[in-house]
This record gives sequence, C-alpha cells and structure tokens, in this order.
Amino acid sequence: MNITGNTIFIPGGTRGIGLALATRLQAKGNTVIIGGRSAAALDALAAEHGFATVRIDTMDPDSITAASAEVIQRFPEVNVLVPMAGIMRAEDWRSPGFLQDAEETVITNVLGPIRLIAAFTEHLQSLPGATIVTVASGLAHVPLRVTPTYNATKAAVHRLSETIRLQFAGTSVSVLELVPPSVQTELMPGHDTDPHAMPLDEYADEAMALLESQPDAHEIQVERVKFLRYAEVRGDYDQVLAILNATDPIAATPVPAR
Ligand SMILES: NC(=O)c1ccc[n+]([C@@H]2O[C@H](COP(=O)([O-])OP(=O)(O)OC[C@H]3O[C@@H](n4cnc5c(N)ncnc54)[C@H](OP(=O)(O)O)[C@@H]3O)[C@@H](O)[C@H]2O)c1
Repeated sequence: MNITGNTIFIPGGTRGIGLALATRLQAKGNTVIIGGRSAAALDALAAEHGFATVRIDTMDPDSITAASAEVIQRFPEVNVLVPMAGIMRAEDWRSPGFLQDAEETVITNVLGPIRLIAAFTEHLQSLPGATIVTVASGLAHVPLRVTPTYNATKAAVHRLSETIRLQFAGTSVSVLELVPPSVQTELMPGHDTDPHAMPLDEYADEAMALLESQPDAHEIQVERVKFLRYAEVRGDYDQVLAILNATDPIAATPVPAR
C-alpha cells in the first residue's frame, strides 16, 4: 500500500489502534474518515483532528449498508477500507453463560468486516491502488485461554485475508493484514495499563514504519508479534502456548455453577 495520497475509511477508529494509526496516516498526507457509533466521540475527533466522520455500528448490517453508501457518496475517491472495530471478551465455556459474548464477538469481529468488505468490493475495484486492510491478531496463531471466541475470530480474519487476497489478484485491490501483538488499549478492562502489552504509540510508530518501508507486504508484523506468529514454524508452539497462558484467571477458578 502506498503510504500517502489515499482516502481511508476506518470504522472502529474512535480510539485505540485505529485512532493511533489514523493520526499518523493523516500526518502522511492521507484523508481519513473515522467511523464510530458514538456521536460525541466522532464530534470530538472532528474538532480535535479535523477528521471526516460517519456514524456506524458494525454489529448492525443496516448501519453498515447506510454508512458505506454515505462514505462512497461523500468521498468517491475512498480507496482504503480498514475494518478496525473489534471486541475481546473473557469467556468461560464450562458453563453456558459465555454464549452471548461469543455471539457478539463473532458478529463484531467476523461478520462486521465481511459485511463492510461486501459493501465496498465493487467500489474499490473501480479505483487504482485500492487496499483492504484487515485487522487480525497474534492470537490467531497461538490462543489465549481466557478468550476462545476472540482467538477464533482473529484466526478467521487471518484465513479470510489470505483467501480474498488470492481472489483479488489481478484486480486493483490489495489485501493487507495487520497482525498486532498485545497492545495497551481499552480492548479489555485493564489492558491499557498491562505492563506485558506494547505501548500504543510504540506499536503505531513501528507499524507505520513497516507500512512505509514494505509497500508490497501481505502482513504488518511488528517484532513483538513474531513470538506468536511464528511459534508453529519455529517448532516451539507448546512452550509459547504455556508462556502465553502462564497467568490465567480461568485456570485458577472452579467450574462455574450452571
Ligand atoms: N489491543 C490489542 O492488544 C490488539 C491486539 C490484536 C488485535 N487488536 C485488534 O485491533 C482492533 C482495535 O482494537 P483496540 O485494541 O484499538 O481496542 P479499543 O481501544 O477497544 O478500540 C476498539 C474500537 O472499535 C470500536 N467498536 C467496537 N465495536 C463497535 C461497533 N459495533 N461499531 C462501531 N465501532 C465499534 C470501538 O468504539 P466504541 O467506543 O463505540 O466501542 C473502538 O473505537 C480490534 O479489531 C482488535 O481486535 C487489538
């Protein structure tokens, strides 16, 4: 992906990784449109950063259809889609209480990007240099015990990215997968201060440097994600799995009552 001159739609960019990349992409000469479900958050971002904004709830298919049509109508030059919105919930599958969290995670993390890509696929193929930037995770490659559905959704995003890249070959559309490691954001309670997670600015700076230096990359892998990303290839998967899950609140609690 070219690092400048794009018009980039980031649904789920009101904070965290999406916002950190949005400010840096804007500084590199891109027009950035932030999508989010909080009008107050969008207004504050427009005032502070001058982003264009669009209301969207990526759990709601009608909202995706309406917001995508609005973006394409207001910004016909929009050539980069970054389905960033994601949720990560702790689940304990030893009792059925996990089901609602699991379903909402699949809707947000898998159906959301699929529906967004469907809404943009014809438009993107009409423009040169278009890019779909998917957002997976190191946890697609080695699972965190406390978040079964989240791990599965990110594995799905990884495999979808690899497959649609094959389908878009020969068109104007590239598929680029972000593979963040654990990054200090509000994705889960306490995650923004987790000393084992990568500071957000550090992650965003390294990811931007890779975007700039590797315009033909299929994945943006900062150094810290390679521990997970290549565990299987290196042959130390079992050790990495054990280290990742060494401090695990679920393992330490009894089976919950039904
Ligand atoms: N942080 C990490 O360790 C990490 C690692 C790997 C991958 N990722 C991925 O990176 C992406 C961004 O996460 P983050 O870490 O930056 O977390 P975050 O700070 O919690 O940001 C998540 C963003 O998604 C938005 N969002 C969630 N559900 C939405 C919905 N239904 N409609 C519209 N927007 C919605 C949130 O907006 P609201 O304010 O409306 O909720 C927020 O802007 C996610 O896909 C996540 O899975 C994160």
